[in-house]
Amino acid sequence: MTSIRDKTVLVTGASSGIGLATARRLADRGYRVVAAARRKDRLAALAGEFAGRVHALALDVRDHAAVSAAMDALPSKFASIDVLVNNAGLGRGSGPVQEGQFEDWMEMVDTNIKGLLNVLHAVLPGMAARKRGHIVNMSSIAATQAYPGSNVYGGTKGFVHVLSKNLRTDLAGSGIRVTDIQPGAVATEFTRVRLGGDDAHGTSVYEGYRALTGEDIAEVVEFAIGVPDHVNISSIEVMPTDQAAAGFIMGGPTD
Ligand SMILES: NC(=O)c1ccc[n+]([C@@H]2O[C@H](COP(=O)([O-])OP(=O)(O)OC[C@H]3O[C@@H](n4cnc5c(N)ncnc54)[C@H](OP(=O)(O)O)[C@@H]3O)[C@@H](O)[C@H]2O)c1
Repeated sequence: MTSIRDKTVLVTGASSGIGLATARRLADRGYRVVAAARRKDRLAALAGEFAGRVHALALDVRDHAAVSAAMDALPSKFASIDVLVNNAGLGRGSGPVQEGQFEDWMEMVDTNIKGLLNVLHAVLPGMAARKRGHIVNMSSIAATQAYPGSNVYGGTKGFVHVLSKNLRTDLAGSGIRVTDIQPGAVATEFTRVRLGGDDAHGTSVYEGYRALTGEDIAEVVEFAIGVPDHVNISSIEVMPTDQAAAGFIMGGPTD
């Protein structure tokens, strides 16, 4: 088994929320981390916390050519990606589908589906050549559960979930593991982005119960990639104790 210190992890969406917490946790544990997102200032701050162990990579996952070029140009120390945490994603809009904006739908498809594939396509050949690797895809409970307003967002996460199953099928025997993680409510910038920057509402959806944190999901990622190489954690649904299903949250102790 390869030791943590010899493993490089690429985390997309590492400027905020789940991705930031995951990049920070894994770097703290001794992994080399390539932290990718669009907001360079945040990535630079993270890299500054872990001198030499975190490489900041300014990247828009929607740009296939830029993703390929960025992977080819990684410094040699970070060039062999052992673990891809394919996490960058967003929701846009929370109203009924018949009131949805077409540009919002396309942004979700371009980011959550095509962006995830752009990164996968850049990283997978190296893993296949080395006969080892681990792809951790960030799906959602929206992949398997319907709730009002989820519509296209849920569809994109359903793609991630089913793609993950099919990756496991094709990659069986290749030495490459595939995990998909389906979180329930996680208090991040996700809802603020989804609602177009409405800070008040973006925060209030996490009030009155104890939501998950990015750190909670980072702990799950660390577990999934830390088990022995012959063990594949296929799929994990992670819920707040106060949430039974999508759209079913009960207030509970918040501390
Ligand atoms: N929060 C939840 O309740 C929840 C539940 C289930 C699943 N998820 C999934 O978890 C993942 C992370 O979300 P989060 O909750 O941590 O939200 P977040 O705090 O808004 O973080 C989203 C991250 O994705 C990055 N990103 C978005 N578009 C990008 C692009 N075009 N290129 C590169 N990076 C991009 C953002 O970075 P930049 O803006 O700097 O590029 C940011 O780092 C998403 O895939 C989301 O669908 C979230």
